[in-house]
Amino acid sequence: MQITKTSVLAAAFAARLGSVAAQTCPEVWTDVATELESSFVDDTGACTDSARAAIRMSFHDCFPGSCDGSLILANECEDRGENAQMVDICSTFRDMATTFDVGVADLIQFGAAMGLKACPGGPAISFKVGRTDSSTANEENTIPSPTDDAATQIAKFETRGFTADELVALVGAHSVAKNLNAASLDSTPAEFDSSFYTETADGTNDASLVSDEFLSNSTETADTWESFEVQDTWMAAFVPAMEKMSLVGNDEASLTDCSSIVSDAFA
Ligand code: HEM
Ligand SMILES: *[C@@H]1O[C@H](CO)[C@@H](O)[C@H](O)[C@H]1NC(C)=O
Repeated sequence: MQITKTSVLAAAFAARLGSVAAQTCPEVWTDVATELESSFVDDTGACTDSARAAIRMSFHDCFPGSCDGSLILANECEDRGENAQMVDICSTFRDMATTFDVGVADLIQFGAAMGLKACPGGPAISFKVGRTDSSTANEENTIPSPTDDAATQIAKFETRGFTADELVALVGAHSVAKNLNAASLDSTPAEFDSSFYTETADGTNDASLVSDEFLSNSTETADTWESFEVQDTWMAAFVPAMEKMSLVGNDEASLTDCSSIVSDAFA
């Protein structure tokens, strides 16, 4: 074939179209959103136990090394004690990824973003798709224990590239958390609000995690903790930290932006 100026231009145009197409969020995520919307809020408008568990999945998939779906695909959910509370949602998400033919790693991060949006007061964080799934388990014993002191938690987060301030902001997700006995970690578990910081510091919740109490009263973290008793201050730190968590081990530039599906959800 003779190479003409026209064919070179056509090829360049096609390549450009290809790159534009890659930047369009796949339609299927709108269908996944509809499915999650029905299970993440109840009749009263409160976010559900599924929403709480989905928020936590982001941390437990990404932090051990990469947001790669190995929480589900390598059975980390079933095999590791720290994931016991997520066994049901791992199974649900495994099936959902098959049904909708989407990546497991992407679905976990979408679930977390949708879970946050489902809880009154929760932010709309960015959501990008295109992560590479892996069925190889990530490193064990990276997630801090609920009895770790502040220095131990800080060290574990720094090993993973997260600062002490990011740690303190991220544990604020416990604002909507319940423990294995269904006791909530603050008095308003249906709201993504900063009363978690106030109540933990004041010692008014019997279910508070020792790890959170240490962050509230240790010299390295107490000032930051107190600053997050103001919702806007907390949100300004939480949103970028959670977005950073959702990208661990992935090249953000290669992902496609689907954030508008999250910001439009639960309208
Ligand atoms: C220092 C690190 C952390 C420790 C020690 C910790 C520990 C815990 C523990 C012990 C529970 C209660 C469930 C159980 O008893 O098994 C819990 C729940 C939860 N955690 Fe964390 N966590 C940490 C960081 C985070 C981060 C960074 C997030 C951010 C997404 C997060 C989100 C949640 C959520 C949403 C729940 C509630 C789950 C549910 O109610 O189903 N946690 N965490
Ligand atoms: C800080 O919290 C930890 C965990 O609950 C507790 O053991 C410790 O006594 C507290 N320290 C201070 C100075 O209140």
